[in-house]
Amino acid sequence: MINDILDLDRYPIDREGSPEWQQLVDDSIAALKANGMFNLEGFLRPGVAEKAVAEIRPVMDTHSHVHKRMHNIYFKPQIPELPQDHPALRKVETISHTVCADQIPGSTVLTIYEYQPLVRFLAATMGKSQLHVMQDPLARANVMGYRAGEALNWHFDRSEFTTTLLLQAPERGGDFEYRTDLRSDDDPNYDGVAKLLEGKDPEAQILRIKAGTLNVFRGKNTAHRVTTVEGERERMIAVFSYYERPGVMFTEEERIGFYGRAA
Ligand SMILES: [Fe+2]
Repeated sequence: MINDILDLDRYPIDREGSPEWQQLVDDSIAALKANGMFNLEGFLRPGVAEKAVAEIRPVMDTHSHVHKRMHNIYFKPQIPELPQDHPALRKVETISHTVCADQIPGSTVLTIYEYQPLVRFLAATMGKSQLHVMQDPLARANVMGYRAGEALNWHFDRSEFTTTLLLQAPERGGDFEYRTDLRSDDDPNYDGVAKLLEGKDPEAQILRIKAGTLNVFRGKNTAHRVTTVEGERERMIAVFSYYERPGVMFTEEERIGFYGRAA
């Protein structure tokens, strides 16, 4: 059954410890090191992304949470060492629609999220002894929808890694744009951040991925955004949250902040 969803012939994540499994882990680690990400194109078998979208569309159309806000690249009201008018604090707008895990029980997306060989494979690529699915009934896996005029604007991630699965690409726009290592743990590079926000950083790159691609991305110090979607087709992407410790929950405040409801 999972073999009908994931292309386990191409990506043998179910054969843990085999030479072909180890090769995939090694290739993924090498890509993470070189590019700050790896992509498993065709991770979903043909037709599966469309099926997953069909499962989610009714709730996305009627019960998704619209998140619309102005924010700076840090998602923080202020940075103590910067004046409020510093160009690194320029505000940008993010608009998206979110479907939470509790709204899509039994879906293909949740089946993939909970598939233990995937969790173990991801842990191996990240050099962790174990990863765990999140316990939070809302936050564990989300599907984000971006419609015409909507975008996820420039930011750094809070988490070390982000795992996403693109379910549907838009007709135009909705590209993943990133600037590798714009800052480091030791150097916030505020002038570089300002330059990027002014659209003057020649090192910003665009990645176009196909539906059915699994992407693992290190976004803590690599600034990134999803450009504005154009056209009729919604960009739909599943976002999977895994943690090193079991039982992780959001606080009620976080759930309200991200999803507009506590439960
Ligand atoms: Fe991000």
